[in-house]
Amino acid sequence: MSKAQIEKRLKKITYPGLDKSLVTLKIVKDIQVRGKSVKITLSMANEELFGEVEKRVKDALGEYETEVVFAAQKQKSTNYGSTQNPNNRAKYAKKIVAVSSGKGGVGKSTVAVNLAVGLAQEGKKVGLLDADVYGPSVPRMMQLEHEKLRWNEKDKIVPAENFGIKMMSVGLTTPQPDTPLVWRSSVAVSALIQFLDDVDWGQLDILVIDMPPGTGDVQLTMAQELNLSAAVVVTTPQQISVDDVSRSVMMFKDIHVPIAGIVENMSYFIAPDTGKQYDIFGTEGGRAIAEKYGVDLLGAIPLTMDIRRHSDEGKVPVAFGNDEEKGYYKAIVEKLLAAL
Ligand SMILES: Nc1ncnc2c1ncn2[C@@H]1O[C@H](COP(=O)(O)OP(=O)(O)O)[C@@H](O)[C@H]1O
Ligand SMILES: [Mg+2]
Repeated sequence: MSKAQIEKRLKKITYPGLDKSLVTLKIVKDIQVRGKSVKITLSMANEELFGEVEKRVKDALGEYETEVVFAAQKQKSTNYGSTQNPNNRAKYAKKIVAVSSGKGGVGKSTVAVNLAVGLAQEGKKVGLLDADVYGPSVPRMMQLEHEKLRWNEKDKIVPAENFGIKMMSVGLTTPQPDTPLVWRSSVAVSALIQFLDDVDWGQLDILVIDMPPGTGDVQLTMAQELNLSAAVVVTTPQQISVDDVSRSVMMFKDIHVPIAGIVENMSYFIAPDTGKQYDIFGTEGGRAIAEKYGVDLLGAIPLTMDIRRHSDEGKVPVAFGNDEEKGYYKAIVEKLLAAL
């Protein structure tokens, strides 16, 4: 069998959890054929998946004596701008920042909204795309939950606006703010592509994207259709212990999404009555994980009553909170701007 024939078979092998092949994801680095033996070199960072991928490759090349080698990826903490020639659907945005997390409920949307508003406070023209199609909570956090989709005379969708930023969310497509969306991922992906193509964003300095949690089609499509400048991974201290966040970080590395850093949310608890700080989950979890994967720790935000209440009331903490609340997010905004 020739190299080309082997590559053809490898094209049918998908990366676990994604519907894209090892070849499409540029994970196959080298193929060597000598008679009945084949040596395949793969560049992957997620060690947890080595076994499964090796099995898939060996099964696909059944009749061959197959050796699978996992070559270490270049160890670089950040690789801004080195995504492998993605499309650039959002040419109207100078920079694109994806906010993501391993799991839901860790405060990803809260971080995305506060970063977007915080960046606008620094004088940037900011758009916020709520791409969490299964839990679009951005409209409520920005007091825009009663907005509906509108088209302008250019036949473009008019983004909702508040606090100086433009926002678009699938939440605006449902009759009621709380109507659940039961979409196949292909439908979700096309809705988001339409938001990238057909929303009248104007010229933006920064487009912030609130991604769905985890690693799947939407994340992958965004990485392929956009020139992502930076991904921010949000985690809680509990999540660190179950390692979902590492899976998320590793997958982004594998699909060449540059990681700006980690935000540890709900890091510690500040009692509202005494102001005393409780390190419920211990300290330094975020730092440990940042070091382990060679990414920066952008900041740590405590669990406070004020942040919860303000967020639920649509009073974005970085704009309406007390000085402490503002400070947590402003520090992250500063680091993010420096990284961009
Ligand atoms: N630092 C924090 N302190 C207190 N409550 C928070 C904090 N961050 C987020 N929350 C609250 O936790 C809930 C989940 O946050 P959300 O941003 O919607 O999570 P995700 O987008 O990851 O699902 C919301 O009610 C939000 O107001
Ligand atoms: Mg959310």
